[in-house]
Amino acid sequence: MRQPLVIANWKMHGKRAFNQALVEAFLGLLEEHRAECVLCPPFAYLGQLAELLRSSDVMLGGQDCSHIAEGAYTGEVSAEMLDDCGCQWVIVGHSERRQYHQESDALVAAKLSMAQRAGLTPVLCVGETQEQRETGEAQDVVKAQLLGALGDLPDLQGLAIAYEPVWAIGTGLTASPEQAQDMHAFIRDVVTGLDATHASGLRLLYGGSVKAGNAAELFAQADIDGALVGGASLDAEAFAAIVCAA
Ligand code: G3P
Repeated sequence: MRQPLVIANWKMHGKRAFNQALVEAFLGLLEEHRAECVLCPPFAYLGQLAELLRSSDVMLGGQDCSHIAEGAYTGEVSAEMLDDCGCQWVIVGHSERRQYHQESDALVAAKLSMAQRAGLTPVLCVGETQEQRETGEAQDVVKAQLLGALGDLPDLQGLAIAYEPVWAIGTGLTASPEQAQDMHAFIRDVVTGLDATHASGLRLLYGGSVKAGNAAELFAQADIDGALVGGASLDAEAFAAIVCAA
């Protein structure tokens, strides 16, 4: 049985006063829950959130990490630095980074390896665009992203995968539970081909307009083990409801 996992991706949102109010309200609303929970603020606020989360079971994560260990690389943040700031998780290959920073599968693979070397658990993001879904390429695209990022790993321990259809991110167009389950089952098949020993235990998260009102029906699907939440994670009540629904 896979323990549910719900991750908040704050993207480029937050200010110190807002962050404190949000985290304190969220922790106050968080009733008994099965799910592991992670908050991923912008790098600038990792220190603040590490302090705010110090007495809770909610964990800290980064939204990205460098593919380089250290050196003269202005603006980069290494996986080791994330670990040093108290992170246990890191998102890699988010579609917004693939789109706006031209991140290739090879670069994502390098980031993922750096994360694991630093003792972080990477959350690999995959997903197709609206056009790719409409042309029937969704599974081919997702399979290529998976193989491109995971193909050279010795095994699939210490990893989570988030399926985020690009057309559902920030649009309010959530994939139906059936659509999401179909792709999650496909992803499970692909990773089983890579590492049959660990594939069944690997957690597959859905991301793309997850809200308090649709979370439970998504989590009821056999291969949906949690969620990667954007907009709704900036609302304490909504995000607490999603975590408690998992
Ligand atoms: O990484 C999660 C994010 O891409 C989903 O965003 O706002 O559709 O929940 P949102």
